[in-house]
Amino acid sequence: MTTTTERSELLAFALELARLGGATVMPLFRSENLATELKADRTPVTEADRRAEEAMRALIEARYPEHEILGEELGHQERGASHRWILDPIDGTVSFMNGVPLFAILVGLEIDGEPIIGVAHFPAVGETVWAERGKGCFWNDAPAKVRRCERLADALISTSGMHATDIRARSSEEPLIALGALIRKVKDHRGWSDAYGHCLVATGRLDAMIDPRMAPWDSAAIIPILEEAGGTVTSLSGSRERLTYAGSLISTAGGIHDEVLGVLGGEGVS
Ligand code: IPD
Ligand code: CA
Ligand code: CA
Repeated sequence: MTTTTERSELLAFALELARLGGATVMPLFRSENLATELKADRTPVTEADRRAEEAMRALIEARYPEHEILGEELGHQERGASHRWILDPIDGTVSFMNGVPLFAILVGLEIDGEPIIGVAHFPAVGETVWAERGKGCFWNDAPAKVRRCERLADALISTSGMHATDIRARSSEEPLIALGALIRKVKDHRGWSDAYGHCLVATGRLDAMIDPRMAPWDSAAIIPILEEAGGTVTSLSGSRERLTYAGSLISTAGGIHDEVLGVLGGEGVS
């Protein structure tokens, strides 16, 4: 059992970790000689991603050596522990590499398989969104809430890109979403990518964020943030089960969630 006091200490620690990540990457943001490479999955990584994850892992190992760590760049240290820190040292590496400030350091904490704490720290725009199960969601120091939206025709939605559409399918086997059909039904669409898009929903600035391609480090922090802000998060199939590991994440203010899923799953082509 984790007590309330322990949980608050863990939230303070999660915020400390995210700020350490931010302080590590900021000196490299917009630097001229940033070392970058393509990983085996053809996605980019920079020296800033690796340095930030190293620094965050070292802090966890020093403070909570019994906890487990899963990070995008440096792997999974499995120990059968109840507590698992899930780290994305830079979410939005494409933004970071191109000098666009909408990237985040993501810190999630799972306890007994449930996402309990989430921090999304955007150091280049001075925004931090965080939540702890049962304690609400905050945007910097103010409580954050999703806004109401009951009809697709009133909704502003966003995506990280054209993932899982015929424009940008990973392979001929990847199931496609009917993104074009959804865009035709909503009021407007913009491309605020990565965690920033999900946090726009949590802070009442956007009605739905669609991401059909999410790894555990992309989703872990976002799930408690959205749920504590009063939003709804599921996979593309509509399930909440083991959502961190489900491979997709749809965040909405709630009222339009089923309709969004219904249209996206529609004819399967955009
Ligand atoms: C990306 C973002 C994005 C998702 C991609 C991820 P990265 O993370 O989370 O929303 O659609 O699949 O790769 O690589 O910028 O940390
Ligand atoms: Ca990511
Ligand atoms: Ca990343």
